[in-house]
Amino acid sequence: MKYKKYYDLIEEQAAIYDKTQNCNIGQTWKYHLFPVIQNAIMLAEKYGADRDVVEVGAIFHDYANLLDFANSDNHHILGAELAEGVLLQDGFSQEFIDRVKSCIQNHRASVVREKFTIEEICVADADALSHLDNVVELICWRAYLGKDIQECNDFVKNKIKKSYAKMSKETQELTKDKYESIMKVLL
Ligand SMILES: [Fe+2]
Ligand SMILES: [Fe+2]
Repeated sequence: MKYKKYYDLIEEQAAIYDKTQNCNIGQTWKYHLFPVIQNAIMLAEKYGADRDVVEVGAIFHDYANLLDFANSDNHHILGAELAEGVLLQDGFSQEFIDRVKSCIQNHRASVVREKFTIEEICVADADALSHLDNVVELICWRAYLGKDIQECNDFVKNKIKKSYAKMSKETQELTKDKYESIMKVLL
């Protein structure tokens, strides 16, 4: 695997992060980060994007959160800087690094879609898609934090709505049935 070193780095950091979230089962890697990477590669192939930029962007997209969830509000900016440090050390070109950074900087729902390159769309859509694919992980995460059922429901419902809204039209079309089914189940 071409980027195994980075997969290992993020998986290890995710296990440390899970403990800070009152959870010991490695769920963030298994149910969020790894699915995001897989979805991003699938979308890169489907939409004709640069697979390497997309894969590395997806690997590092939540890196700053894993180091400290207090970075949450700013994790897209900080994560891009942290990834740059790692990639520079490993000799990647500045052009490649800048394209990876833009994927990390623009992966969040608050960023307007029209600004996206096709690689940024793949990472942002993959992130959103993983929330739809792993609703149970989201609910469990809030529950592990001690939140009550209504809060878990409301948090997840809001997250799913935002995730779907930020997807490209093409990816929304792919996931419309799943989105509507999830919305029917949530309170
Ligand atoms: Fe994120
Ligand atoms: Fe994410």
